[in-house]
Amino acid sequence: MANKTVTLTDNSTGKTTELPLLNGTCGTPVLDVRSLNKELGCFTFDPGFKATASCQSEITYLDGAKGELLYRGYPIEQLAEQCSFLEVCYLLLHGELPNEQARDEFVANISSHTMINEGLRVFLDGFRYDAHPMAIMTGVVGSLSAFYHDSLNIYDPEQRMMTAHRLIAKMPTIAAAAYKHSIGEPAMYPRNDLSYTGNFLYMMWGRPTEAYEPDPVAEKALDVLFLLHADHEQNASTSTVRLAGSSQTNPFGAIAAGTASLWGPAHGGANEAVLRMLDEIGSVSNIDKFLARAKDKNDPFRLMGFGHRVYKNFDPRAKIIKKMAHKVLENYGDDPRMELALHLEEIARKDDYFVKRNLYPNVDFYSGIIYQALGIPYNMFTVMFTIGRTVGWIAHWMEMVSDPKMVIGRPRQLYTGHGPRDVPSLKKR
Ligand code: SDX
Repeated sequence: MANKTVTLTDNSTGKTTELPLLNGTCGTPVLDVRSLNKELGCFTFDPGFKATASCQSEITYLDGAKGELLYRGYPIEQLAEQCSFLEVCYLLLHGELPNEQARDEFVANISSHTMINEGLRVFLDGFRYDAHPMAIMTGVVGSLSAFYHDSLNIYDPEQRMMTAHRLIAKMPTIAAAAYKHSIGEPAMYPRNDLSYTGNFLYMMWGRPTEAYEPDPVAEKALDVLFLLHADHEQNASTSTVRLAGSSQTNPFGAIAAGTASLWGPAHGGANEAVLRMLDEIGSVSNIDKFLARAKDKNDPFRLMGFGHRVYKNFDPRAKIIKKMAHKVLENYGDDPRMELALHLEEIARKDDYFVKRNLYPNVDFYSGIIYQALGIPYNMFTVMFTIGRTVGWIAHWMEMVSDPKMVIGRPRQLYTGHGPRDVPSLKKR
């Protein structure tokens, strides 16, 4: 892949080095700087990794300028239209879409892992009733490593795939149990006669005292939302999973680290923050006041659900979710916050501050409107993101761990602290 080179010269020493410029299948080429320290005695410096490629991957491709998202080469728009979430899970894990037989086998496999160890139910009871469900997810997912010792051999492809199936299957069960814990109701056992998403809805809204059948509109909407959230190349939480996993740690621990990272409001926690922001704005007449705050560098307020590190155009997922929100609200009744969100987007997209900085609605801007319409409480929104993103995290973990050239991730730094100095005696401090 190295077609061209870039010549770097250190003007202070006159030393020169040629660095390979590597091209992928599509997208921005990368400058291979692995020899830089040896050749020129320096590191690259890129806080936040805004211009750094951390790895090579075949899973997902984003074109930020075009607003394009491909899973294994397939456009997200076509996948959302034609495939189920579990078909896309198969695609992300195996690299190709399943035929009917492979799909049915995969679905049956996932269904066979939906139960969680009874010991985990006791573990869940230890949380305060008002614990944030993402705190529970982070804790319980990490504790899976205490229950599945046979998934400790990360170099066994079968155990890696078993880990993937277990995580994809158990996330909805853990998520629904976290919700039930917060409302003091008994957690529901999975029903494997239902679809992946139908089973999640059953575990969320079902009760041992009465029959429950999932609403097909909600089932379909959630299936598409899980699919749209499934992967997004080297975002913060996926990079967290890769860095944690690079130490050869237990995969459940690495996924727990990714879960914790996703919780942040700058990342997956934004979907919950958007609805809280819309509630705070309250009416169209307040939009200007809040936009002024978003533009004020002295005000920590940000327009939640807006902006993206990669997309400098409309997030393609946001376009699909915005359309879906209209359809879901037709079914469940209008929500004034949709009107407010539409106005906010329209006004912001005409404002020079947002236009100049290419700030568009991202995946989190409209998703909460749908979750809310389905009756899902705000503090469960990022849990929904977690259910969808788990397959992406584990696909990247598998891609990294199966690479014989995997090395532990260990960035360097620019040190600006004290130089060497002697410890003064206590009397002199
Ligand atoms: C996700 O990486 C992924 O792929 C993530 C994700 C995935 O699927 O995994 O897509 C999911 O995390 C989506 C993003 C959800 N977060 C939010 O909606 C929170 C609000 N957005 C911002 O915090 C911000 O846009 C980020 C964090 C998303 C991106 O931040 P960057 O890339 O570091 O951009 P930046 O902070 O350098 O912003 C550039 C400029 C700055 O102003 P100047 O210094 O140039 O004057 O734009 C401003 C920022 O202040 N800006 C915003 C803004 N986002 C950026 N100003 C007001 N409101 C905002 N939302």
